[in-house]
Amino acid sequence: MNSEIIHHRSYSLRKEQIPPVVVERLDDIERINLKEKIKKKLVERDAVIVSHYYTDSDLQLLTDETGGCVSDSLEMARFGYETEAKNLIVCGVKFMGETAKILNPEKQIFMPDLGANCSLDIGCPVDEFSKFCDAHPDHVVVVYANTSAAVKARADWMVTSGSAVDVIKYLNANNKKIIWAPDKYLGDYVQKQSGANMLIWQGSCVVHEEFKGKELETLRENHPDAKVLVHPESPSSVISQADMVGSTTAIIKAVGKMDAKKFIVATDKGIFHKIREVAENKILIEAPTAGKGATCISCAHCPWMAMNSLKKLLHILETGENEIFVEKDIIDQAKGSIEKLLKFTCNNKRTSLANDA
Ligand code: 13P
Ligand code: SF4
Repeated sequence: MNSEIIHHRSYSLRKEQIPPVVVERLDDIERINLKEKIKKKLVERDAVIVSHYYTDSDLQLLTDETGGCVSDSLEMARFGYETEAKNLIVCGVKFMGETAKILNPEKQIFMPDLGANCSLDIGCPVDEFSKFCDAHPDHVVVVYANTSAAVKARADWMVTSGSAVDVIKYLNANNKKIIWAPDKYLGDYVQKQSGANMLIWQGSCVVHEEFKGKELETLRENHPDAKVLVHPESPSSVISQADMVGSTTAIIKAVGKMDAKKFIVATDKGIFHKIREVAENKILIEAPTAGKGATCISCAHCPWMAMNSLKKLLHILETGENEIFVEKDIIDQAKGSIEKLLKFTCNNKRTSLANDA
C-alpha cells in the first residue's frame, strides 16, 4: 500500500462540540401557512432554494415545488453556479453556503442557520492544515468539499464524494503524490480504489463514523435478501460489506436501479425521503449505529443539517439575516479548486438524478 497515514493527531470531535439533533415539529396548518409565505417571499426576492438530501422532508418538498434543487454537494454547487436567480438560499451546512458564495460572488447567499457546520470542516483548521501542506510541497493538495473556504483556498483541487475516486485516479495516472483532507475513511477508500500515493488527514464525520461493522453483519444475516448501500464517509468495516459505495445521489439511483426489493442504507436517514419518492415500493432499513451503546450522536441524522427548518427559512427571507460572506482574496484563491472539479465532472459525467431520465 502506497498510502502514508499521518498520525500526528486525530481530528475527532469531543462530545460537547456536537450539538443535539433538534427537529422542528409543525402541525398541518402551520406547515401550509409557512410554505405559502415562503413561496411569496422567494418571488419578491428573486431567490431560489438549494437543499441537501439530509435536510427535513418539508424543505426538500418546498425546494422541488419552487423550482430549486435538492441534491448532493456536487450538484448543489453546480446548480448555484448555473441558476439565474439573484439570491440563493442554501439549506445544508456552512461549507455548502460558502461554496455557493465562492462560485457566485455577485449573488447574495443566505442560510437558515449560520451555526450549521460539519465535523469534517471543524476538524480541519486552516492554520494547521497549511503547515501540513507546507511540509509536503511536492504533493498535490486535494480537499473534500466538506471544508472551510480558507482550506479550499489552500488546495489545488476540491472533490466531492461523487467525484473523489475519478479525480484521484486521474492524478495518480499523472504520477502525482497527493495530500488528502479531511475525511480519513473516504481517504482510505479512495486510496484503495486508486492505488494512489496519499498522505491522509485524520478527520471524520460524526454521523457516518457511528455505523458499526459487527452489527451490520448481524443485520445482514437477518435480511440475506437485502442489498447494502454505503456512503464512503463510513468506516472500512462497513464499506467492506457494501454492494454499492457512493455519494448520496448514487445511493438514491442504486435503489431505483438494483434488482432487489430490500436495502440496508448506511447514510443520514434524511435521504429516505428522496429514495421513497423515486422508488416507493422498495423496503428501506437503516444501517445499525452504536447498538446498545448508542447516544444521540449515533442516530444517523446530522445535527447540523437538522438546524435547517421552514420557520428559520421564512425568518431569513423576511429579515435578510444570515447572509454568507467570504473574503475576496479567499474567493479568488478557492474558486480555481472548485471550478477545476466542475470542469472535470462535466467532461466525465454529471451525477444528478435528472441525468438518468
Ligand atoms: P454528498 O456529496 O454525497 O451528498 O455528501 C455530503 C455529505 O455531507 C455527506 O455527509
Ligand atoms: Fe458533515 Fe457528516 Fe453532517 Fe455530512 S453528515 S454535513 S459529513 S457532519
